[in-house]
Amino acid sequence: MKPTARIFRNLLLTPLFAGLLAAAPLMLHAAPGEGVAKLHSLRGTDVQAPDPETDMFRPERDRGPIERNFVQQPPIIPHTVQNYTITKNFNKCMDCHSWSRYKETGATKISLTHFKDRSGTDHANISTRRYFCLQCHVPQSDAKPLVENTFKPASALQ
Ligand code: HEC
Ligand code: HEC
Repeated sequence: MKPTARIFRNLLLTPLFAGLLAAAPLMLHAAPGEGVAKLHSLRGTDVQAPDPETDMFRPERDRGPIERNFVQQPPIIPHTVQNYTITKNFNKCMDCHSWSRYKETGATKISLTHFKDRSGTDHANISTRRYFCLQCHVPQSDAKPLVENTFKPASALQ
């Protein structure tokens, strides 16, 4: 065998070279971004674009408290919550539901449980874990149920 041919054969046998050979077709064909599926969000906008603004679907008319279905249930909100914003510094819900405001606004005052932090310490103001009211309390829409629901209230509350 000629020396050049031997060098070539030895090269072929090195795992590194073999690996390069195997990867070559991939490197040649993969232009940047090609072969990556285009992502679509479920909301129909580009994943990096801001979400389209949501609006409340036909909010129910304001009324008195709605009966609870089980004992620990966060009561459902019996009024519209449109434009009731909650930011780091201001909580519109507390404008009516706080202990200092409920008498003049006629709203139910938030219960004592809302002042307790996760270690059970009571605070003078609302606990941060109860700050975002809509996490637990939900407003109602005048909409047909999407699926049949056979849920019945707890017997003690019927
Ligand atoms: C403008 C004053 C006002 C604001 C702001 C307000 N509420 Fe109310 N809320 C009321 C009044 C009044 C009632 C009804 C009280 C009644 O009829 O007994 C009520 C009732 C409720 C109830 C039902 C209580 C129960 O015992 O069934 C919940 C829950 C509630 N509001 C949550 C919220 C949340 C959450 C927000 C913020 C997104 C909010 N409210 C903002 C005035 C307000
Ligand atoms: C982590 C869930 C959660 C969050 C967040 C939360 N609540 Fe509640 N809320 C409850 C539950 C559960 C009850 C019923 C049991 C109780 O009183 O703790 C309740 C009860 C209430 C009641 C009725 C009190 C009564 O005496 O009948 C009002 C009014 C209320 N919440 C308002 C609010 C407001 C306003 C906020 C935001 C500042 C808020 N809640 C945040 C879970 C929550």
